[in-house]
Amino acid sequence: MTKEFVFKPIGYLRSCYPDKFGVPRQAGLVKKAYSELQIAAEFQPEISLQGLEGYSHLWLQFVFHLNSSVRFHAKVHPPRLEGQTMGLFATRSPHRPNPIGLSLVEIIEIQKDTLVLAGADLVDGTPILDIKPYLPHIESKPEARGGWATDVQKDEIQVEFSSVAMEILQKWIERTGKKELPEVISEVLKQDPRPVIYRGFESQESPYRNKHAFRLYDGDIHFEFTTKNHVIVFDILF
Ligand SMILES: C[S@@+](CC[C@H](N)C(=O)[O-])C[C@H]1O[C@@H](n2cnc3c(N)ncnc32)[C@H](O)[C@@H]1O
Repeated sequence: MTKEFVFKPIGYLRSCYPDKFGVPRQAGLVKKAYSELQIAAEFQPEISLQGLEGYSHLWLQFVFHLNSSVRFHAKVHPPRLEGQTMGLFATRSPHRPNPIGLSLVEIIEIQKDTLVLAGADLVDGTPILDIKPYLPHIESKPEARGGWATDVQKDEIQVEFSSVAMEILQKWIERTGKKELPEVISEVLKQDPRPVIYRGFESQESPYRNKHAFRLYDGDIHFEFTTKNHVIVFDILF
């Protein structure tokens, strides 16, 4: 018997990533990416959050609300595999029969009805269905195998800022008070946010394929991969 379920978000994550492009592909990869989750009043946060202060991390369950395609594909193309396919349920792809995601994030602070979190891999405005504390004494499995995701070895990407970008970044930090911006930008770029189709053109003179930008808060970070393992931030607009 097929049953349908209706869920109601408990809140919406306010994150530093206005667009999908640039969002890290897993939680915890950009440790200083801060976000906030205000729990809706109807879920009585003043009572329902009691006890959470003892935990350092929590699981976010959310909806991939910006998914455009609703067609089911049993095989997907994880960006780490540069074009190869993998069975959907062996991946963390956003494109699933039920577009529900799971991210482990750090709890920085609890301010009344609002949680300040770090390390989320979600677009600003993502609907959160539930939060659950991470139980290290049960859920931590240091002996666990990582499957194909850990078999793929990647060289570390070096991130450089041009002098122009550095100057603007400094002004941006002064205006916002966000000292973590250089680290967040570097960590995002170290994950190579480019879709697979834009990789491999590093030595070619093609601004369409080589020059990209991702959005962070109210800024646009313009970057170019000069080689497979080197990226330069050449401009920042805000
Ligand atoms: C690979 S998924 C992993 C998410 C989660 N950690 C999981 O395993 O379920 C992360 C990607 O989902 C995409 N994404 C993030 N928030 C989204 C949203 N609200 N709707 C659709 N896609 C989103 C971004 O492109 C991000 O890089």
